[in-house]
Amino acid sequence: MPPHHVAWWRPLFLIALMPIGVLGNLEGDALNAFRQSLIDSNNVLESWDPTLVNPCTWYHVTCNVQNSVVRVDLGKAGLSGTLVPQLGLLSNLQYLELYSNDLSGVIPVELGNLTALASLDLYQNNLNGTIPDSLGQLSNLRFLRLNDNSFTGNIPVSLSTITGLQELYLSRNNFTGQAPDFYNLSKLENL
Ligand SMILES: *[C@@H]1O[C@H](CO)[C@@H](O)[C@H](O)[C@H]1NC(C)=O
Ligand SMILES: *[C@@H]1O[C@H](CO)[C@@H](O)[C@H](O)[C@H]1NC(C)=O
Ligand SMILES: *[C@@H]1O[C@H](CO)[C@@H](O)[C@H](O)[C@H]1NC(C)=O
Ligand SMILES: *[C@@H]1O[C@H](CO)[C@@H](O)[C@H](O)[C@H]1NC(C)=O
Repeated sequence: MPPHHVAWWRPLFLIALMPIGVLGNLEGDALNAFRQSLIDSNNVLESWDPTLVNPCTWYHVTCNVQNSVVRVDLGKAGLSGTLVPQLGLLSNLQYLELYSNDLSGVIPVELGNLTALASLDLYQNNLNGTIPDSLGQLSNLRFLRLNDNSFTGNIPVSLSTITGLQELYLSRNNFTGQAPDFYNLSKLENL
């Protein structure tokens, strides 16, 4: 048998393994992109090693049993810098806790892709720009706290369609125009 017949399957084997490696790093790459846009003066992101197979052993990151990220807990972490669109790739993320930092810039529209999100806490930062309409797609959201930033423009009507919202904090921003009717949010406990 010619030698190439012996090893014919090897390239196929490598191709079969590749998607696993790429998928395993997708969420780590997204979080690493976020890290690159931050100034981390307290070194809270020191354990975020992008060469690991997934981000599940990184501090302040929690994964489910499928090694997919479900929590990012970086409230009061001394971070400045900006949010990045890549955060929208964390498709199983339930808790994005970034309150009480010094984050600036805008909320990326891509955060509207985080449809598993139950809690989005961006309060007490220096975020600006308008609240993206896309946040209205976060139909599993229970806690949306955006207070104490520098947001401007209208409060999107789309937020009034997130029927499971329990807490919606928008105070101490620079919104203009009329607030939408939140009458339909029957679970709302705090506005
Ligand atoms: C994420 O959101 C953007 C903007 O809202 C959209 O164009 C894009 O298709 C979304 N990506 C995925 C993977 O859902
Ligand atoms: C948001 O603030 C940054 C400075 O942090 C500024 O450069 C930018 O123009 C502001 N954007 C909006 C939409 O106000
Ligand atoms: C809101 O706008 C006023 C006037 O433009 C400004 O003085 C104030 O600092 C702004 N507040 C916030 C929270 O951005
Ligand atoms: C509130 O709910 C009613 C009945 O489900 C619906 O017809 C109406 O369009 C909703 N209003 C808003 C502002 O979402």
